[in-house]
Amino acid sequence: MNAPLCEVRELEVRFAARRRALFEPRRWLQAVRGVNLRIERGAVLGLVGESGCGKSTLARAVVGLQRPSSGSILIDGVERASARGKQLRELRRRVGIVFQDPYASLDPRQPIREAVLEPLSINGFAKPRTRRLRVLAAFEAVGLAANLYHRYPHELSGGQRQRVAIARALVLEPELLVCDEPTSALDLSVRAQIVNLLADLRQRFGMALLFISHDLAVVRKLVDEVAVMYAGRVVEQAPRDALFDAPQHPYTRALLSAIVTPHEGERRERIVLAGEPPSPLDPPSGCAFHPRCPARADVPGERCASELPMLSALDARRLRACHLDPTL
Ligand SMILES: Nc1ncnc2c1ncn2[C@@H]1O[C@H](COP(=O)(O)OP(=O)(O)OP(=O)(O)O)[C@@H](O)[C@H]1O
Ligand SMILES: [Mg+2]
Repeated sequence: MNAPLCEVRELEVRFAARRRALFEPRRWLQAVRGVNLRIERGAVLGLVGESGCGKSTLARAVVGLQRPSSGSILIDGVERASARGKQLRELRRRVGIVFQDPYASLDPRQPIREAVLEPLSINGFAKPRTRRLRVLAAFEAVGLAANLYHRYPHELSGGQRQRVAIARALVLEPELLVCDEPTSALDLSVRAQIVNLLADLRQRFGMALLFISHDLAVVRKLVDEVAVMYAGRVVEQAPRDALFDAPQHPYTRALLSAIVTPHEGERRERIVLAGEPPSPLDPPSGCAFHPRCPARADVPGERCASELPMLSALDARRLRACHLDPTL
């Protein structure tokens, strides 16, 4: 059997927290706590969850910008951390990233043509003709007109800048494009265009996407499958329609309760969560969601506070980490 395009195994990412006093013992901030994910070729996986739950840290680890504290990231069966030389360059080519703020990810002193050309130089595409053709193809794929090529980032609109950032990722023909909130810094009217562009690129090039967004309507439009994160862990994962139509984890239910369903604006009952998201410096015991969980009373005893629920199969394609009886 072929290896999946991307496999995340037992990924943990810890950061040393800043000490509040000189002799305070070192404390660790645990941003990602044992995540397993697979992304198949051409598939689109959405990653959602509240601010600070570890989405960007996971995304950065997948593209090699963040070193795992433990666990591994495999790209087509090759472990990122042990790849060197040519193999590492090849991994970098195969996995691209688009960030939230295109202005920050582009050099203000560089005309955009140079910005799109740069990854080719770094990755050793030497022939000027090959480079030229690839840059043109990337600009064309993102729908940027030829008369813009010599402009600087500040001369473009936000939407155009994000297209440049996408072209810069595309020029290496990645098989997986990690999109970390690629539309949140854009005007509402431009958001839809960028989402359509990503959907189109996926269709045309069969590219897989790891798509992170707070905008659940956008997630619903674009993805095949959704993973929901809470406090550094995946708490539910399911095919898109199964997740949006019948979420199984109490946290997912709360997260989705605020969005309007397609049936003529009918809303589910809004579930307002009490309390704040947990601090990654000191996450709650057992299930990290238990202090805020509306369904906690339905689980006998103090199990939610004492025992970590494992992410396990509810049926063929649904995973959930919760002690609640699945029939409730
Ligand atoms: N380089 C770093 N050093 C220390 N702590 C970090 C670092 N990067 C992230 N963190 C912390 O790790 C946790 C997870 O952050 P992360 O950016 O992955 O969250 P997120 O889910 O992407 O949030 P958002 O939706 O706001 O973008 C946060 O508590 C954050 O403060
Ligand atoms: Mg983030």
